[in-house]
Amino acid sequence: MEIILASGNRHKLFELKEILKGHTLLLPKDIGISFDFEETGSTFLENSQGKAFDLFNKVNRPVLADDSGLSVATLNGEPGIYSARYGSVNGVELEAPVRNLYLLDKLQGKTDLNAEFICCMTLVLDKNRFFAVQESFKGEITRESTGINGFGYDPIFFLPEYGKTVAELPEKEKNTISHRGKAGYRIAKLLEKLE
Ligand code: IMP
Repeated sequence: MEIILASGNRHKLFELKEILKGHTLLLPKDIGISFDFEETGSTFLENSQGKAFDLFNKVNRPVLADDSGLSVATLNGEPGIYSARYGSVNGVELEAPVRNLYLLDKLQGKTDLNAEFICCMTLVLDKNRFFAVQESFKGEITRESTGINGFGYDPIFFLPEYGKTVAELPEKEKNTISHRGKAGYRIAKLLEKLE
């Protein structure tokens, strides 16, 4: 199926293309549409559905939205739905490496470094036919950035069972265990059984 991804994030597209093999995923700009959704929801689900329907209303064909982020236990779930905007100054988003340092700084002196990535995906097939799934991926925040793969918070997200950060894992391996990989797998299964 040809699906338009309600995002401008090339990293997400790259991961999702691998996860949803057999389907054609395009960004709005690939079909000449500019798409910039203002996230005003208070949950990943609200933002994911908002993004998906906003784009569906423009393109009137299957749309997939991914709203995701990092939740750190000792920071009461921060940065959460504000993951992309965390530490912004006057509405200007920080580059990921600077944002990671900003988060590491907030964790200085804290001993509980448990965190999880969360991904909520909404697939809209028609205005009255949509599916939402949310998955999570648990790990710990490191004290310093390590690794060059992936994107965003990956270099500071440590997986004790692998002894590595997500940014040290091969991209394909990340997809088998990540929040996005798990949510995408559910969507893929759903598409397989679609009537
Ligand atoms: P969104 O585009 O509003 O969903 O923002 C997601 C933000 O959360 C991204 O900009 C990243 O900073 C962060 N994020 C989401 N998924 C991942 C991931 O798999 N690895 C690292 N950071 C992620």
